[in-house]
Amino acid sequence: MNALLCHSLDGPQALSWQAHELPPPGATELRVRVDAAGVNFGDVLLTRGKYQIRPPLPLVPGMEIAGEVIEAGASVRGFARGDRVAAVMPEFGGFSEYVNVRAEHAFHGDARLPADVAACIPSVYGTAWYALDTLAGLRAGELVLVLGAAGGVGSASVQLAKSRGATVIAVVGDAAKAEFARACGADDVIDCGREELRTALRERTGTRGGVNLPIDPVGGSATETALGSLAWGGRHLVVGFASGSIPAIAANLVLLKGATLLGVNFGGYALRFPERAAAIYRTLVAMLAEDPALRPPRLERVPMREGASALARMEARAVLGKIVLINP
Ligand SMILES: NC(=O)c1ccc[n+]([C@@H]2O[C@H](COP(=O)([O-])OP(=O)(O)OC[C@H]3O[C@@H](n4cnc5c(N)ncnc54)[C@H](OP(=O)(O)O)[C@@H]3O)[C@@H](O)[C@H]2O)c1
Repeated sequence: MNALLCHSLDGPQALSWQAHELPPPGATELRVRVDAAGVNFGDVLLTRGKYQIRPPLPLVPGMEIAGEVIEAGASVRGFARGDRVAAVMPEFGGFSEYVNVRAEHAFHGDARLPADVAACIPSVYGTAWYALDTLAGLRAGELVLVLGAAGGVGSASVQLAKSRGATVIAVVGDAAKAEFARACGADDVIDCGREELRTALRERTGTRGGVNLPIDPVGGSATETALGSLAWGGRHLVVGFASGSIPAIAANLVLLKGATLLGVNFGGYALRFPERAAAIYRTLVAMLAEDPALRPPRLERVPMREGASALARMEARAVLGKIVLINP
């Protein structure tokens, strides 16, 4: 079988589609034929040695997949050959024709959900739901600020926050991304290519007393600005640092606003509490199966063997929404 192998930490261009050996699945594992695998910013970081884990080289990126169970290990219960599943791959390896995945990290699909949509649930939808619902307890009517709103986590956050009755302000970097964020359901959009974020936020949120819930996959100066825009009792969700800059948090702002900082580490949560992550996945599968409007509004399908170019575009900030790598 083939996989997208990374032999050096030189970024996406170091990926090549090559023959790769997969051992037989262990007793608690499933062998899954990968039909689709979601592309995430974490995959880009992995190819540069900048992710929080550093698997030995050569490595295979890919942290979320969907496909069909080919074989179930001897102690696996609840899954059988032929089942349609999706899975999170906390140690990566998903950009491949086949994977072995621990059964506790897999979940059943739904006949109404194609594999390319199911492949987006483990990371971006899972993270967005864990952040907004599990950690922050988002309530209808709250004002949510989504940074990086045209990205994978960002666009899923816009959709899920709207489905919970929130008002959503999306923050993006250019006009095309602004249009995309509106298509995801954002009530208002701040295009940082045209507006200064701090001023725009003051204008937009003044009458409401500030933002209740910023969801922040970007980091850097945007984090500091979002913290400054918080309403009393706001909850700031720290998701990631796509800007490449880890901000120093002004603790006085947290104090003055009676605010809460919430660290979102969905991968760590899924590793420690797989049964709770599975409950989140069941909820999301049902939601996306029942309501097509909650599926990715613009899903770009790229052949897996050409995955290097997809990751390079993500690194260059040139992706709208989500890319999924497809095996023929
Ligand atoms: N904590 C968790 O459990 C968890 C789970 C999944 C992902 N993450 C993290 O969340 C972040 C976003 O992941 P994603 O998969 O949603 O990525 P993505 O699809 O590439 O979206 C990231 C967004 O960040 C914005 N951005 C601002 N500065 C950027 C820069 N210098 N380079 C690239 N993008 C920049 C871009 O929007 P504009 O161009 O419009 O500004 C882009 O749309 C990553 O840091 C990832 O590691 C964390």
